[in-house]
Amino acid sequence: MKHISVAIDGPVGAGKSTAARKTAEMLGFIYCDTGALYRAVGLYCLRNGADPRVPSEAAGCLDRIKVEISLVDGEQRVFLNGEDVSRDIRSPEVSMAASAVSAVPEVRKALLGIQREIAEKNNVVMDGRDIGTVVLPSADVKIFLTAKPEIRAKRRYDELLNKGVKTTFEEVLNDLNERDYNDSHRAEAPLKQADDAVLLDTSELDFEQSVESICRIVRERRDVL
Ligand code: DC
Repeated sequence: MKHISVAIDGPVGAGKSTAARKTAEMLGFIYCDTGALYRAVGLYCLRNGADPRVPSEAAGCLDRIKVEISLVDGEQRVFLNGEDVSRDIRSPEVSMAASAVSAVPEVRKALLGIQREIAEKNNVVMDGRDIGTVVLPSADVKIFLTAKPEIRAKRRYDELLNKGVKTTFEEVLNDLNERDYNDSHRAEAPLKQADDAVLLDTSELDFEQSVESICRIVRERRDVL
């Protein structure tokens, strides 16, 4: 039986992961956060003295890296060479390293198969930057989720504070603008809305309203499939 895939792309802090996770739960699909894969590669570089901004250094690490995703109690966990790094990949340093390594074509190629395999075997809500354009160009439903930069930065800032990460709003906004710029201007699979994606701006929506809107789009789209 063919599996159903919902692709959710968008910039940093648009609320993709929280909304996608909840949407998956409501639909009974699995949730796959593809940013975690790039974060694991970025973490490996930082831990092993490779500069994530130097393509040859990032690419040079690949044959020493095994990244795996698995579901533990319904939650996605990411393993780097067998170690569960799900928590370690969430720091601001790893965010920047992930954005840097994600511009390297060899890194993108190495992570493509893992993502496609998950969608082949499961009904999935998958979020990232290039899911609707490159990873799953035939996804059944594509959504491009966005919001104004200041609103996205505020959400990300609150999230980091909740996790006990020390930072300022200005720092978060600057990091977010820099990552958005990198992610949308790289040559390989840049962040952009797929032609057939539905644009959803969550600037004026709270979490529940965002999830409701996504579920409505999925239902409407599935009705015509
Ligand atoms: O979604 P995130 O913040 O966890 O993603 C971390 C970085 O990984 C992001 O800055 C860009 C990159 N990324 C990507 O290039 N393609 C994806 N499908 C997902 C993430």
